[in-house]
Amino acid sequence: LLAGRGFMWLHARRGDPLAQVATLPAERDPYPFYERLRARGDLVRSRLGMHVTTSHRLCDALLRDQRFGVLPGSAHSLVDLGLSSTGPDTPVNPIDDSFLSLNPPEHTRLRRLVAPWFTPRALRERTPSINAVVKEFLDEVAERDGFDLVTDFAVRVPIRVIAELLGVPEREHARFARWGATLAGSLDGARDLAQLRETRRVLGELNAFFTDLVAHRRKHPGQDVVSELVNAHDGDVPLARKDLFATTQLLLVAGFETTVNLIGNGALALLADADARRRLVEDPSTAEDVVEEVLRYDTPVQYTARFALETVELDDVVLRKDDGVLLLLAAANHDPSVFAEPNRFDPTRANNREHLAFSAGIHYCLGAGLARIEAAAALGGLFRRFPGLSVAGPVRRRPSRVIRGAISLPVSTGVER
Ligand code: HEM
Repeated sequence: LLAGRGFMWLHARRGDPLAQVATLPAERDPYPFYERLRARGDLVRSRLGMHVTTSHRLCDALLRDQRFGVLPGSAHSLVDLGLSSTGPDTPVNPIDDSFLSLNPPEHTRLRRLVAPWFTPRALRERTPSINAVVKEFLDEVAERDGFDLVTDFAVRVPIRVIAELLGVPEREHARFARWGATLAGSLDGARDLAQLRETRRVLGELNAFFTDLVAHRRKHPGQDVVSELVNAHDGDVPLARKDLFATTQLLLVAGFETTVNLIGNGALALLADADARRRLVEDPSTAEDVVEEVLRYDTPVQYTARFALETVELDDVVLRKDDGVLLLLAAANHDPSVFAEPNRFDPTRANNREHLAFSAGIHYCLGAGLARIEAAAALGGLFRRFPGLSVAGPVRRRPSRVIRGAISLPVSTGVER
């Protein structure tokens, strides 16, 4: 693992695009780097075996192209950690073992089982309870002059929403949140062996937790995803344990840190833009446009990857089976041929919904609608409650390249007491 890192550094110094992405200091602003990469062309070849693209056109086309797919087992990290489950005793991994990392027909079969929980109608029914969760947490922080916008607020909203969706008892929410955070951190690949061990340990705990939850829901079914999947069938046979675990755990990992950072990045953008803040406070119906622009402007999931399933010619480049392309979604969202003045935060721009922050094609984020509702409720609620909110201390950035956002953002409410 460490030798691999050294190898990456060496290639990064020689200007190799893939090595540069993999070794970019995680806390640094990545957008100037994406622009330098864009200047080298739409599809840049890495000596490490993959191509890299910053182009909106190419990202969008590849994500929708059936000749490309994910590489089961290690689709989303640049370094294969060997964390996908191989035997009955290895813990199931929500990223590498779930439908996020599967191609059709398995992908279709498993995604279909949970899709009904995310239809517009199901989400409409959930909206009042999301608004109530936001209000509850805002009431709590309003008791103080200042608070941490990430740890005291942004983290709490999505974890409560997902825990309710999965039927996780409230006393377990804090533990559940810690596991989600560790696993989201593993998306980058492990920094060292200690982090690799920590990820394995957390996977073991999460699997033990789900074993108990599944047993409990078998006896006492509720109105939640786990209760429903416990009784789901795959043809005539019950859903395999591995699929049940990977699918339910995926909802935790995919829906947690991503949404935390959408709320955090949105708050940061709004705190730096008095006009946008005023419009949001005066007209709550603009919250949805704000959320779309945050997704475009400071994309929470910065990149993904796709692999050729057969020989494909793309922009005069021949890709052979299993050749990969790193898709820099965040760079595509700053592509000047689609978004005018891409580095300007502008919730009023007409085409911000063309962003690729939720990917595209068959892996288009299943929770996009839920994330939009949570973020609009959280950002709208926050600035209406505290119109004088301001940054009150140093912003600490998340040590991740895949997931971009803050881990700490101290704020002052600006409320006179
Ligand atoms: C897939 C982003 C919130 C569940 C994805 C993908 C992206 C993404 C980029 C596709 C990855 C790829 O194509 O390789 C985000 C962002 C979110 C968010 C930016 C919040 C701001 C959520 C939430 C849930 C969720 C709240 C559910 C509770 C999923 C699932 C997939 C997925 C299940 C896999 C879809 C598939 O493979 O078919 N998300 N997500 N996401 N997301 Fe989200």
